Amino acid sequence: MALQEFVSELESLCTAANEAFSKAESGDQLEDGRVEFLGAKNGRLKSAQKLLGSVEKSDKPAAGQKLNQIKKAIQAAFEEAKSRLVNAVEDDLDETFDPTLPGAPIRMGRLHPITQTIEELKDIMGRLGFSIEEGPEIEDDWHNFEALNIPREHPARDPLDNFYLATANQNSGQPLLLRSQTSTVQIRVMENTPPPIRIISLGRVYRPDTADRTHYPMFHQMEGLMIDVDVTMADLKTVLRLFATNYLGEDVRIRIRPSFFPFTEPSVEADYYWNGKWVEFGGAGMVDPNVLQSVGYDPETVSGFAFGLGVERLCMRRHSITDIRDLFTNETRFLHQF
Ligand code: PHE
Repeated sequence: MALQEFVSELESLCTAANEAFSKAESGDQLEDGRVEFLGAKNGRLKSAQKLLGSVEKSDKPAAGQKLNQIKKAIQAAFEEAKSRLVNAVEDDLDETFDPTLPGAPIRMGRLHPITQTIEELKDIMGRLGFSIEEGPEIEDDWHNFEALNIPREHPARDPLDNFYLATANQNSGQPLLLRSQTSTVQIRVMENTPPPIRIISLGRVYRPDTADRTHYPMFHQMEGLMIDVDVTMADLKTVLRLFATNYLGEDVRIRIRPSFFPFTEPSVEADYYWNGKWVEFGGAGMVDPNVLQSVGYDPETVSGFAFGLGVERLCMRRHSITDIRDLFTNETRFLHQF
């Protein structure tokens, strides 16, 4: 290669490098340029250096000198671009920022009282041998009513008492609703598992009630279900009492009184005593043979009990909360007390 050609090759390389470095607007762009021109492996300067071998022997000293000169020029252009970018970053720094000031304290979050209650209920029932199950909050007719022995014309299905969805289940055509009770989970569990069964299910339920001190259109229930041979009402009373004394205290007074639910026979309502009054904490009873049949169990060989307790009421009694709405307005000054 002729000296002249080699020199002009180097000069256009230098121009290109200068342009790339002066155009760089970020560290990344500058680094791309560095790799392209000064890269130790495949950099363009490196490639130019290789051409030196093909220059006439007599021209080599001059060519070598030129190469060094260009190399220095490219490196200088790189350094210049680098300090230009560093200065730009420093100019951007907020001068009022004092890194030696102590930081702002971080306020610790905490679990919502209902979440705390749920955790504790799971714990107590777990020690009594009940495992946890879950079910969907959007339910179909079968699980919320039909399988629970609540027939077509039953007033419990009234659209005024339930949050029906505007759309039905696409496959079955069944109406859908926000579940009004966790008893739906009883059916889901029994449909999928043979007896014996000992489960609880904790979750949200929805009813179009006007909010007041004791009502809210969404609340939580703890459903319990135990199925085995020879399960009796005595077992139900024992579990309810053990549960109440564990959660509310040894001295809590509870009572059960006759009631009616389509899915239990006999049915009871369980109350505890608070502030001079009996307060209902849930419904319960022996699982109705019709329900056992609807999930394919044989009512002649197995029996069982079920209960559904209001989680908010338990939590309120425990913490002396007098208005259920306080639990859901998310006023942090209220929530921070728990
Ligand atoms: N599902 C009933 C309710 O929401 C409570 C209940 C559960 C009653 C299980 C009996 C058995 O009121």
